Amino acid sequence: LLIDASQASARPISDTLFGIFFEEINHAGAGGVWAELVSNRGFEAGGPNTPSNIDPWAIIGNESFLIVSTDRSSCFDRNKVALRMEVLCDTQGANSCPAGGVGIYNPGFWGMNIEKGKTYNAVLYVRSSGSINVSVSLTGSDGLQKLGAANIIASGSEVSNWTKFEVQLEAQGTNPNSRLQLTTTSKGVIWFDQVSAIPLDTYKGHGFRKDLVQMLADLKPQFFRFPGGCFVEGEWLRNAFRWKETIGPWEERPGHFGDVWKYWTDDGLGYFEFLQLSEDLGSLPIWVFNNGISHNDQVDTSSVLPFVQEALDGIEFARGSPNSTWGSLRAAMGHPEPFDLRYVAIGNEDCGKKNYRGNYLKFFSAIRNAYPDIKMISNCDGSSRQLDHPADMYDFHIYTSASNLFSMANHFDHTSRNGPKAFVSEYAVTGKDAGRGSLLAALAEAGFLIGLEKNSDIVEMASYAPLFVNTHDRRWNPDAIVFDSSQLYGTPSYWVQCLFNESSGATLYNSTLQMNSSTPLLASAISWQNSENENTYLRIKVVNLGTDTVNLKVFVDGLEPNSISLSGSTKTVLTSNNQMDENSFNEPTKVIPKQSLLESAGEEMEVVISPRSFTSIDLLM
Ligand code: AHR
Repeated sequence: LLIDASQASARPISDTLFGIFFEEINHAGAGGVWAELVSNRGFEAGGPNTPSNIDPWAIIGNESFLIVSTDRSSCFDRNKVALRMEVLCDTQGANSCPAGGVGIYNPGFWGMNIEKGKTYNAVLYVRSSGSINVSVSLTGSDGLQKLGAANIIASGSEVSNWTKFEVQLEAQGTNPNSRLQLTTTSKGVIWFDQVSAIPLDTYKGHGFRKDLVQMLADLKPQFFRFPGGCFVEGEWLRNAFRWKETIGPWEERPGHFGDVWKYWTDDGLGYFEFLQLSEDLGSLPIWVFNNGISHNDQVDTSSVLPFVQEALDGIEFARGSPNSTWGSLRAAMGHPEPFDLRYVAIGNEDCGKKNYRGNYLKFFSAIRNAYPDIKMISNCDGSSRQLDHPADMYDFHIYTSASNLFSMANHFDHTSRNGPKAFVSEYAVTGKDAGRGSLLAALAEAGFLIGLEKNSDIVEMASYAPLFVNTHDRRWNPDAIVFDSSQLYGTPSYWVQCLFNESSGATLYNSTLQMNSSTPLLASAISWQNSENENTYLRIKVVNLGTDTVNLKVFVDGLEPNSISLSGSTKTVLTSNNQMDENSFNEPTKVIPKQSLLESAGEEMEVVISPRSFTSIDLLM
């Protein structure tokens, strides 16, 4: 491997090359990153017609003790469904209630993770024609293990109208499969609505599940594309993500059924929270909005202006002054400063659909007029031919086999440098090579990323997809981070991304592999600075997709003599015994990068590259 580390060969890598794409898929948000523990907190998931299905809520006690139903008596105009509970038994007498009470429970998203010593904030709206004595408790999945409880006691005018109650429950024990119970032993009719339970301890106090978001922070993502994906489109427009329905007080949000990935979301993780999360991660938000096109229906270009206005309003919400119509709502939600929204994507995977070009042009000119600095991303791939419409960037999505993706490392080599920049906004190895996140998939992705790094003069951004999967709702396979209520791990693909997290804004050097074998090998060389100790490193990355060990001779040219120091130089290797090896809850670190000190380092050195491996060498300069 010949590396020219001279100034003449140095080229800047895009500051925003690597980031993340967050889609509400696989319960990534609801039951994932959004720390709300209650699933279907407003009882709306069963639809607007009542009585309705209240899943996953369930009843404690049988029909001789209580009748549970829904009606449309909520005080919240945009989500009218409320739960009505008629308790037939009483505190004492012949028809006394069971000792533990009767009522309802919510198991959360396949169990709530309740941890000893942590505090959970429970909020619920209650109404009754009489007096109430309701126990709000966290219990094990059988209802027997008591983890924390508080009583709500009120009567008369205190509850004759809808009233908000808030209690804090400190957990006395740990159980990753807990539930929230609302129980009583008193006869009467009680209505419940908007029942929430959320840990007090969330990422930056903004309602995000800490362990999952920390995994994202560790990637040092330069951008944050959201909220989809197909989630943005919907199977039908009526089920698409519409930002105005997802802002404001959480109790007032209608929620919606994401019909592509087939689950309800209360939209607690709404447009504001997505912007907040990107800010909390230090990433630039990239908002993908619906352009009047879903998978199965489309708005004609002649009537798309209301959608255009919706997008303009969304931009104003994100970055308008606190005195503007929509910016004032953002300020009221606690963020008077504008969010740093610089990029929007006009639709997702809609290129080629009948109305795409027409609709796109309407969005493009309206946004360019109102916000000349905003960069707009087209859905049409401009990597092999010129776009027939103006764009600052274009999406490029690729899901394919390991060998295909590896060979696509050269895909952008011949792309015109005069057109818009490429945004590889979704890439991954899928199919049988991927298993549920194999080493093989990760290595092929590493090869592809090396190609993007080398082409970062035209590829401005890249993100893996999908990011998260709740193991109980694997709608798409594979994914970068796997979790359940309490556990999580990164797939090898996640760890490959970590090994690129210093690339954005780094310096690329020319490097040439001279091979006398057909081993599939790819390599790159960059220099980057560690912001903590200000050390500069020459990083050499090598992917070996083959089954042979390679003794790689490295020659670094263009440096002052002896500018590489052995001490502080390291080698990090991602490999495993079998190319299909994966991580799992039982073995979360089976395939993760392992770092060691280098035994020799210098302008000329030999490195052993293992079969089926990704090696990252940091030479301290
Ligand atoms: O990443 C999963 C899906 O793949 C996305 O929703 C969509 O954009 C693509 O087809």
